[in-house]
Amino acid sequence: MSIISIRLYGDSILRQKASAVKVIDKSIDLLAEDLIETMLSVKGLGLAAPQIGYCLSMVVVNLPALNLDEPPLILLNPQVISEQGEKVYEEGCLSLPGIFEEIKRAEKVVVWARNLKGEEFSLEGDGLLSRVLLHEIDHLNGVLFIDRISSLRRRLLRKKLKNLKRVEEKDEHIL
Ligand code: CO
Repeated sequence: MSIISIRLYGDSILRQKASAVKVIDKSIDLLAEDLIETMLSVKGLGLAAPQIGYCLSMVVVNLPALNLDEPPLILLNPQVISEQGEKVYEEGCLSLPGIFEEIKRAEKVVVWARNLKGEEFSLEGDGLLSRVLLHEIDHLNGVLFIDRISSLRRRLLRKKLKNLKRVEEKDEHIL
């Protein structure tokens, strides 16, 4: 297991559509472990595989951090089955550090996915769990939460977003 550095805004992998997981082999098990370990290391509520450099349809959700008495959850090929209600809530993303915006999302969601054994399951989430699921599934479609704010708000963020990119470039030069 290893902690992998999280890709930041500006990295093209965050804009790609993730491929479905077709065969669950050792590499998929290892990716799930790395995703969970990386998420826990930064106390994230969720993390999607493209954020650590793998363009595959896999997300993890930090259920313990959501006060749900379950281990972190792994979802392969998750699909949103239904959405209900609406709620505006402040949201951030590990790939856009320091940026927080009010985002409108469904209050309740039903998601279908497979687990690491390849078994289908459906999950009903409300409140913060619903938000995390929708945010992470967005990542699998190359969508970031700032795509869901008004163009005016996005214009106001332009400078912050540029600085974010600069930090990433500087890091790359150092390493
Ligand atoms: Co995110």
